[in-house]
Amino acid sequence: MTASPDFAPPILKADALTRRFGRKTALDGINLTVSDTGVLALLGPNGAGKTTFVQTALGLVRPSHGELRVLGAKPGQQSVKTRIGVMMQDTDLAHTLTGRELLELFASYYPDPADLEALIDRCALGDFIKRRYGQLSGGQKRRIQFALALVGQPDLLFLDEPTTGLDTEARRALWAIVRDVAANGTLVVLTTHYLEEADALADRVIVLKDGQVIADDTADGLRTRMGGAVIDCVTGLTDDALRSIEGLISLNRSGRKVRLQVSEAVPALKSLFELDPDLSDLGVAQPTLEDAFGALTRPSESQGA
Ligand SMILES: Nc1ncnc2c1ncn2[C@@H]1O[C@H](COP(=O)(O)OP(=O)(O)OP(=O)(O)O)[C@@H](O)[C@H]1O
Ligand SMILES: [Mg+2]
Repeated sequence: MTASPDFAPPILKADALTRRFGRKTALDGINLTVSDTGVLALLGPNGAGKTTFVQTALGLVRPSHGELRVLGAKPGQQSVKTRIGVMMQDTDLAHTLTGRELLELFASYYPDPADLEALIDRCALGDFIKRRYGQLSGGQKRRIQFALALVGQPDLLFLDEPTTGLDTEARRALWAIVRDVAANGTLVVLTTHYLEEADALADRVIVLKDGQVIADDTADGLRTRMGGAVIDCVTGLTDDALRSIEGLISLNRSGRKVRLQVSEAVPALKSLFELDPDLSDLGVAQPTLEDAFGALTRPSESQGA
């Protein structure tokens, strides 16, 4: 990530940020400082608080307690609104306007909007930009929403599950633009359930669970912190037998197919072969971000080891 000048306030600063909805605590005392531009991935299971965090940063949801500062100001202030772009998880836009009309409308809200033709080209919207928004496919609507998030050339860009519903080509194209925008001095806050996406894009990864930050690291850092190796195999061994394997961190199974996270590959493999010389379909790999995320967020009773 790229550091902002020393005199600039943090781009995002949360102090004991808490939001309750009735009895539900969606954000539970979050402390967080983001001073660098780049891509910040906000990960976490359904209901972890990701969208609530984004809505709080936009001034749409008020904290119950604590504070969130955005670009040095209180969320929702006009001076910061014009520096922010956003693609919400759920959006409703005027169905009767064309994509181009929506872009023109949104451009009028910003002091220094992007060149619309260049933006249409960059986001490959040419095929459907003249059609009414209400007649577009789900993926085409998402792509218009993404361009609308970019139209103000924001310093801070929130993308809440931007690639849900996109085909592979559109997803890759969006990734390339996100990388480019982030490399040119914007902080992109990206929520996603695609761990591969976070791995491909994120300079920093924050994992939320039950409204709390449970990890704040680089993708590599999360993998390294998890350490060890992932062993896949097909075996007739019971869970009880597998639990005696040296350095076992966690165990998952689907029928006879077993996935083991272990602290060190070689001793674990030795004890595995001693227990079951007939095991098959063996694979040994470094943990992926998905493995690290699973280990962090899985309910403790299903961790197996
Ligand atoms: N307006 C609201 N009224 C009541 N409860 C809410 C409201 N908004 C969010 N919540 C609750 O707060 C919790 C956090 O929701 P949030 O939408 O922030 O999760 P999320 O991490 O974005 O999940 P997902 O991955 O499903 O999008 C959930 O339990 C949700 O039901
Ligand atoms: Mg959400």
